[in-house]
Amino acid sequence: MMKRIFSLACMALFILASCTAPGSKEQKSESTENAALSNIFARKSVRTYLDKSVEKEKIDLLLRAGMAAPSGRDLRPWEFVVVSERSKLDSLAAGLPYAKMLAQAQQAIIVCGDSARSSYWYLDCSAAAQNILLAAESMGLGAVWTAAYPYEDRMGVVRKYTSLPENILPLCVIPLGYPANKERAKQKFDEKKIHYNQY
Ligand SMILES: Cc1cc2nc3c(=O)[nH]c(=O)nc-3n(C[C@H](O)[C@H](O)[C@H](O)COP(=O)(O)O)c2cc1C
Repeated sequence: MMKRIFSLACMALFILASCTAPGSKEQKSESTENAALSNIFARKSVRTYLDKSVEKEKIDLLLRAGMAAPSGRDLRPWEFVVVSERSKLDSLAAGLPYAKMLAQAQQAIIVCGDSARSSYWYLDCSAAAQNILLAAESMGLGAVWTAAYPYEDRMGVVRKYTSLPENILPLCVIPLGYPANKERAKQKFDEKKIHYNQY
């Protein structure tokens, strides 16, 4: 009898442990205790900033995060232009229709790619840009992807103020700053988007 009670208790404990173990369904929900996942779920586009510069060490970490991205054949075709000159930020804000927040930001990182080095350049650079956005979120910074590629006119504006060589294409301009407002990430999980084995 005692043996039976003991084995039933062990079974119950095992079931309880496997439900709460890292990697179980609960841990993957948006209210996770996994710091990396929490940061992914908390990331949002931030378009208003305090009148406060982002420290150089933090910009360096953002660039390191960008360069930690995966890339096809490990070619790393990215180049990063850090813009902190007021006149350049204002000129970019004036020329780019959907990046007016650059006029408020004190820094921006332009993620560029070498199209001659890799035909995957914009995919690799998108991974780098996402790493920068996630790193910014994790440091309490606000950032947003504003598009340059594939719009010739917007790429032309970026080229004009950054003297990029012909083969280096600007993918996006990421304004950076300390968020002026407390914003929440959108809830995007949608079960209907998931397909198992077939669509
Ligand atoms: C390829 C791409 C281009 C984007 N271009 C712009 C842009 O030009 N200006 C802007 O304000 N936001 C831009 N965004 C940000 C999106 O508007 C934003 O990611 C989307 O509304 C979802 O909001 P969230 O980032 O807060 O989750 C862009 C995002 C991506 C991925």
